[in-house]
Amino acid sequence: MSSRTDRLKLNAMLNGSGSHVVGWRHPLAHAGGNRDFAHYRQMAQTAERGRFDALFIADVVATQGSHIDSLRRSAKAETFEPLTLLSALAAVTTHIGLIATATTTYNEPYHIARKFASLDHLSSGRAGWNLVTSVVPDESWNFGFEHHLDHASRYERAEEFYRVVAGLWDSWEDDAFVEDKASGLFFDPDKLHVLNHRGKHFSVRGPLNVARTPQGHPVLVQAGSSGAGRDLAARYAELIFTAQHNLSDAQAFYRDVKDRMEDYGRSPDHLKILPGLTPIVGASEAEARTKLQALQDLIDPVLGLRLLADNAGDFDLSAYPLDGPLPELPATNRSKSRQQLIVDLARKENLTIRQLYQRFASAGAVTGTAQTIADHIEEWFHGHGADGFNLTFPWLPGALDDFVNLVVPELQRRGLFRTEYEGPTLRHQLGLPRPAFKRASSSVRGDLIGTAEDPTATHRPPAALESQVQS
Ligand SMILES: Cc1cc2nc3c(=O)[nH]c(=O)nc-3n(C[C@H](O)[C@H](O)[C@H](O)COP(=O)(O)O)c2cc1C
Repeated sequence: MSSRTDRLKLNAMLNGSGSHVVGWRHPLAHAGGNRDFAHYRQMAQTAERGRFDALFIADVVATQGSHIDSLRRSAKAETFEPLTLLSALAAVTTHIGLIATATTTYNEPYHIARKFASLDHLSSGRAGWNLVTSVVPDESWNFGFEHHLDHASRYERAEEFYRVVAGLWDSWEDDAFVEDKASGLFFDPDKLHVLNHRGKHFSVRGPLNVARTPQGHPVLVQAGSSGAGRDLAARYAELIFTAQHNLSDAQAFYRDVKDRMEDYGRSPDHLKILPGLTPIVGASEAEARTKLQALQDLIDPVLGLRLLADNAGDFDLSAYPLDGPLPELPATNRSKSRQQLIVDLARKENLTIRQLYQRFASAGAVTGTAQTIADHIEEWFHGHGADGFNLTFPWLPGALDDFVNLVVPELQRRGLFRTEYEGPTLRHQLGLPRPAFKRASSSVRGDLIGTAEDPTATHRPPAALESQVQS
């Protein structure tokens, strides 16, 4: 085990009542938390007290599933829009990073560049964008498409989408806004750059109507683990969320992505890899296991089978015996990496369908005491399977409270985790450089520049105003 001099990164994935499919039924869960801002405020402040790098809001632009029999048994039918929620949380927190999911499949780059730039300003440099290409086909029906775009096309669009967004974020140099009351000139037109992007998927002139942000660019997060997803991450991402079920798979993923970065001339230190982890803390190992089993027993088979079908490529397993093996699955247009993970798990451990959905419902769950959970974290971190963890909490807010009160102090005692924030921005916490301003290669001096006033002209304020300013 090689030692590391850097510190662990921790992200809290928050939602209304917890990540477990029946978490909302737990006695310490806030069942209606999805529509309660006070609940989110409390969780954000708890995570900040625990010195988490960031909190993260996942998103799907549809109700998660249209099978009413399973949907009505989960808490996934309603949720706040993430950027709106994070804008409100920015006002009641001071240091914690604020990461929102936004899909490149059902958005336009100008909107996304503008919204995340605004969040970065509103939060004084704490915004992050989890770029996803969408896995849930129901989304397509909310945007006028009969079918979900295929996997390769989604990633092709995502790549161009990101380049446009990054170009728009560099519309203005950092010191473009001179706001010179004496001359009457608000900005320096030499520091304004028009993108003029024309590509296969997008045609975007620019410039963005938001100034360059405190972080230069909001932090880019990526959560796809297929070859195309890893490549996109290696080229552009600064943080990865990934689902890895054991240390050796996590190490292979970690090495693969960091090696790919070298192909793009990037330093491996400029991308932090955070596998998922769902901690369930008990006073003893047995108590933690009992807490988990109590939740598992609440899973109705209707819900369990749908959970598996949604993640295994929308394949209906209800015709197969619950206590029999997983059949061969056809190729999917949804998450290829997720389907493979499920098939591998079933084959490796010879699980029945029922065992598989129970296992899947508790994916990433680690039961133990504060010490054994800290041991697990330390092993993955020092073993280069992770730069930190994306923590999900099976029920909320109770499981987050447990982690912050019991596990964080143990990680701090071991010197693995910070006791104070490193600085004001998310980049400070993550140890990521602020991107230098980059003039887009497609940038030209377009009409907008041509109509700028002569920057050498002096516009003095009327005498009456000038005397007010001086007095
Ligand atoms: C921790 C984590 C969080 C994710 N969050 C979202 C999300 O909020 N919305 C979404 O549409 N997809 C989400 N995804 C899915 C991925 O972004 C990606 O689209 C999916 O894995 C399919 O891509 P792949 O085939 O490259 O793995 C998430 C994945 C992981 C591992």
